Amino acid sequence: MVNKQLLELKSNKEDTFSLRPEGTAAMVRSYIENSIHRKEAISKLFYIGPMFRGERPQKGRLRQFHQIGAEVMGEGTSSPFLDAEVISLSINLLKSFGLKNFQLKINSLGSTDDKENFAKQLRIQFKSDMMALCPNCQQRFQHNVFRILDCKNKQCKEVVAKKAIDYAYLSAESQEYFSCVKQSLKDLEIDFEESPLLVRGLDYYTHTVFEISDSSLGSQDALGAGGRYNNLISQLGGASVDAIGFALGMERILLALPENQKIPVENLRVYIIAMNAQTLQRGFHLLNELRAANISCDMSYKISSMKSQMRSANKSGAEYVLILGEEELKNNEIVLKNMDSGEQERIPLQSVGKALKEKLDIK
Ligand code: HAM
Repeated sequence: MVNKQLLELKSNKEDTFSLRPEGTAAMVRSYIENSIHRKEAISKLFYIGPMFRGERPQKGRLRQFHQIGAEVMGEGTSSPFLDAEVISLSINLLKSFGLKNFQLKINSLGSTDDKENFAKQLRIQFKSDMMALCPNCQQRFQHNVFRILDCKNKQCKEVVAKKAIDYAYLSAESQEYFSCVKQSLKDLEIDFEESPLLVRGLDYYTHTVFEISDSSLGSQDALGAGGRYNNLISQLGGASVDAIGFALGMERILLALPENQKIPVENLRVYIIAMNAQTLQRGFHLLNELRAANISCDMSYKISSMKSQMRSANKSGAEYVLILGEEELKNNEIVLKNMDSGEQERIPLQSVGKALKEKLDIK
């Protein structure tokens, strides 16, 4: 994590706290502190929670946002099949939320040695372009030269476009690993684009990195991202085990969902109409009895004409309407109306739940 992205708070005792910017490092710390690698060979973990970054807020970029993340850690987890499994899990999650129009980009940064080679080559390539790069990239040249490749600045993009960035820096072993990841994705029928410019903002990645974006989101278009981080656990003091994971941004998923899919509402099934103050109280009890029996229902507490209440019932989209007037209450009955067919019947008040469950096919 780049320091300037941390959201820092000062306490009144002059201590400074940084709020967590992402979940991976915290998961790794927990994995190490609880010696999980001794308890299980492979750990498949997940988290959902708020993250904080001190960035300039804009559409899709918030100071407090939420991530859904998954991490796999353990000895022998360096298998291209696992990379494909983890990528496929992130894609399937997005699909299950109702998203369709997203693109997957993948790249390989190679082993630590490959990364060092790559950084050296990039410094040689960009040395003569320093003046054409944005001030951020001029600093990145020293500390994180990879980030020049995905800088959004127009001038930097022009400089990068003139360079031949390919996979020459990858060792034969890393190339073989990457080929297997791509083949496994093809076997799973997952579409992807290979992008040598995808380098990711976090330093810990090695080998496979990926990002899933939705162009309808504008400049902050990444729905989620992840990759392999084979050195992080040992760097933070843990065992020498490999790992891979991803995180999806919940707010961006909501932004990308079509308007009519934002809140998955279950259709209302029953609407209760009470005709006066006495029947309102019985209707209110009935509402709660039916809800407790897992029947979705609603009512209005405003006593108004039958016509206006039927209008509300119609608007609610309920399949059945229960009408409770003074006469019905006296006879311990209720009128049940099928809103589709218009058919009406009287049923005893005490068996209304049972009757509705049968009609609505609720177990
Ligand atoms: P990241 O790319 O920094 O990766 O964030 C993952 C996702 O979180 C982004 O693709 C985006 O959807 C969402 N996100 C990030 N920053 C913001 C923000 N300021 N406002 C709204 N949404 C945001 C990670 O955090 C890595 N820990 C992922 C990972 C897990 N790699 C391996 N394991």
